[in-house]
Amino acid sequence: MLIRILGAAAGGGYPQWNCHCNGCETVRDGGAIPLTQSSIAVQSEEDGSWFLINASPDVRQQIEAMRAEGCFNLYSGNSHSGNRSLPFAGILLTDAEIDHTTGLILLRESTAPLNIYSTATVKQALTSGYAILSTLQNYCGVKWAPITPGEIIKLTDDLEVEAFALSTKAPKYIQSTEVEVWGIGLTIRDKITNTSLTYAPGMGSIDKDLRQRFENSDCILIDGTFWTNDELPKLGIGARTAEQMGHLALSGDDGSLSQLASITNTRKIFVHINNTNPILIPNSPERQTVENTGIEISYDGLTIKL
Ligand code: MLT
Ligand code: MN
Ligand code: ZN
Repeated sequence: MLIRILGAAAGGGYPQWNCHCNGCETVRDGGAIPLTQSSIAVQSEEDGSWFLINASPDVRQQIEAMRAEGCFNLYSGNSHSGNRSLPFAGILLTDAEIDHTTGLILLRESTAPLNIYSTATVKQALTSGYAILSTLQNYCGVKWAPITPGEIIKLTDDLEVEAFALSTKAPKYIQSTEVEVWGIGLTIRDKITNTSLTYAPGMGSIDKDLRQRFENSDCILIDGTFWTNDELPKLGIGARTAEQMGHLALSGDDGSLSQLASITNTRKIFVHINNTNPILIPNSPERQTVENTGIEISYDGLTIKL
């Protein structure tokens, strides 16, 4: 399978339109490369079809970047000029966050219904809370299919996906909730190459099962949102800690860096990186620390072949 990081930044992107943190100003001064918002795509090498995982507000730019690089050349679902359908065989959602779902609205011009996979909880949130799925019904339409943690879904002849529960928080627009699992991670297996990818862009903690899943994967794409737990409060630009937002910070004794350090046979890459995270600044001590730990920092267009 081929995996492409469409957007490496967390919500807001890099730079974020209203932000004057060190990172955002560094990009504006030309000292760092801009990044679009969190999303990846996975391609079956068997039939060339692509799957979009999360639909960011930057999806239009991300699709055009894929087209410019010839990503869709092999995908017959999108070849003739009269075809204005989506160049993805399906869209998988890991949660109902605004920055992972707003791109769906931009895809309304598709001439075929969008094939969307999500948990029932996410469907409900996107139907009654942030009503994107209901809105789309009067445009391209939606064909929804459930994803249930623990169950395996066949995407193509070679690719299958297994969802698993992650410790995450409800989206801010949900006022009260009794639901426990808001976000999921996905393990995608290629049955021909016998390889697997685990994607966990929103991860509040790492338990024994998750650790084992990471060890058993060839590549993991992991939550790289914040460097410190109090990153936003400390900068005076947000009240909530990383923990309160359902993100495990990278640094600190129990941070993801130290927890992931001993996983050695897996390619480890941070995704969903917030613009305040100093690892985005070239040559920063924090970025060097991450690189010394053997974890990669993703960027838009990074392509991984498994
Ligand atoms: C998150 O990643 O936790 C959310 O996207 C943050 C938010 O937009 O509230
Ligand atoms: Mn987010
Ligand atoms: Zn910023």
